[in-house]
Amino acid sequence: MFLEKERTHKIRTRYDRISRYYDFMESPLEKLLFSQWRRRVFDVLDGDNILEVGVGTGKNFDFYPVGKSITGIDFSKGMLRRARRKAQSQGVKADLVDMDVQDLQYDDQSFDTIVATFVFCSVLDPIKGLEEIRRVCKKGGKAVLLEHVKPATTLLGRIFDLLNPICVKLIGANVNRDTVSNVKRAGLNVLEEKNLFRDVVKFVVAKP
Ligand SMILES: C[S@@+](CC[C@H](N)C(=O)[O-])C[C@H]1O[C@@H](n2cnc3c(N)ncnc32)[C@H](O)[C@@H]1O
Repeated sequence: MFLEKERTHKIRTRYDRISRYYDFMESPLEKLLFSQWRRRVFDVLDGDNILEVGVGTGKNFDFYPVGKSITGIDFSKGMLRRARRKAQSQGVKADLVDMDVQDLQYDDQSFDTIVATFVFCSVLDPIKGLEEIRRVCKKGGKAVLLEHVKPATTLLGRIFDLLNPICVKLIGANVNRDTVSNVKRAGLNVLEEKNLFRDVVKFVVAKP
């Protein structure tokens, strides 16, 4: 338990540190690829109560539907500070809360749709986080994820394994996670799985 808290704190500190240049660092890929993938996520939202976990600096704000109740959580104060600034300047209405996805402070079945974009590559215990998503998602609701994962090809998979420690250090993200399996292991049922960039970037819709 102590070790888990220590390791979670380390990830949080890393995101606090990179929050300053996060948007700048990702801007070329954001323009080229990410923004069209994000749009896809927000095209399939259902219901009035939306939760975004790992909201980061608020890169999804451009796609938030008007008239819904939106809550965004993140455990990095640095990322949240930027998200709040962005929400204010863009006139986005969302409740932005400092919270760990591994320990969500919401009742069971509170949300219609839960969104996560590029989050479960960095959550210390992704299955715990995904179990929390399952718990707070209404029966009949859904989780929509956009995640990069380890490629299935043996050689490429090995390269991603080798690169992983460097990526974790530099950008805080693991590049060798099998997030689709983690979704299933957390007890969510995968309704849709699409490859957006080879088999490295996945669009996943799942239900409790
Ligand atoms: C790679 S960034 C993605 C940010 C944003 N979703 C996006 O698409 O740009 C990962 C985000 O997940 C957050 N995060 C990682 N582990 C978390 C946890 N256990 N609880 C809450 N947020 C977490 C980080 O602070 C960071 O903001």
